[in-house]
Amino acid sequence: MRLMVFSDIHGNLEALQSVLADAAQRNVDRSICLGDLVGYGPNPNECVSLIRSLNKCRCLAGNHDAAIFWGMSPYGMTGAARKSIFWTMEQLTPENKNYLQGLPDRLDILNMTFVHANPYNPRGWNYVLDRKYALRSFAATACRNLFIGHSHRPMVITRKNILSIDLLEVSGSRNIAVKDTKRRIVNCGSVGQPRDADPRACYLVVDLKKEVFEYYRVEYDLEKTVKAIRSAGLPALLGRRLMNGT
Ligand SMILES: [Fe+2]
Ligand SMILES: [Fe+2]
Repeated sequence: MRLMVFSDIHGNLEALQSVLADAAQRNVDRSICLGDLVGYGPNPNECVSLIRSLNKCRCLAGNHDAAIFWGMSPYGMTGAARKSIFWTMEQLTPENKNYLQGLPDRLDILNMTFVHANPYNPRGWNYVLDRKYALRSFAATACRNLFIGHSHRPMVITRKNILSIDLLEVSGSRNIAVKDTKRRIVNCGSVGQPRDADPRACYLVVDLKKEVFEYYRVEYDLEKTVKAIRSAGLPALLGRRLMNGT
C-alpha cells in the first residue's frame, strides 16, 4: 500500500491544491491528514471543504482546529495565531465547524499510529524535535511507525535499539529507506506553512512494502496566498512567514 500523509494546511488553499495535484501522479491508495486544517491562512472554508470531499482520506484534529471550538484556548497562542483563530471562527460555516469538532486525536492502523503533535499528551501539543521527546513518544506507543505533524519541520527519527536513536531533518524532495531500523517517528512537514526555510509545500508518501518514506516539496502560487492574507485583513507577518518558509 502507498499512503499519502500530509499535515498543517493552515487555510492555504493554493498549497493544498498543488500538493493534491502532485500526489495524484504518485499511485497513492489512500491518505491521512494529521490536522491543523485552519489557522493562519486566508481560505479555511475552502480547505476544510476540499479535504471533506476527498475519497479514502482520514483526518485528525490539530491544535488550531481545536481552538476554533474552544477545545483549547486561543489566548495561549502568539498574537498573529490568535488573531487568525478569531478571524477563522467568524469565517467557517457551521458544517465545517462541526466537521472540525468531530475529528479524532489519534488513529491506529496496522503497525502505524497517527497523531497531530505527540502520542503521550495529545492535547498538550508538545513538539517532538529532540531525543527526550522522541523517547517519550516511543515509550507511549507500541507501533513500528508513528506519524506526526505540528512542528512544520520534516523529520525522520529512527531507533535501531533502545540506545541508538537517529534524528534526521529532511530537506528537499528525497526518499528515505528505513528497512534496517526497528521503529520510526516520522514528521511529514507542513503543506501550508513550512518552517524549515524552504517555502515550498511539503508532504509525504509512505511505501509500506518497500519501507521507504518519499518526501515531496511542491511549488505553489505563494503570491496569491500572500495577497489573500492581505485582503482578508490578517496580520502581514503571516504572509512574510510563508515567503521565508519560517
Ligand atoms: Fe500547525
Ligand atoms: Fe499544530
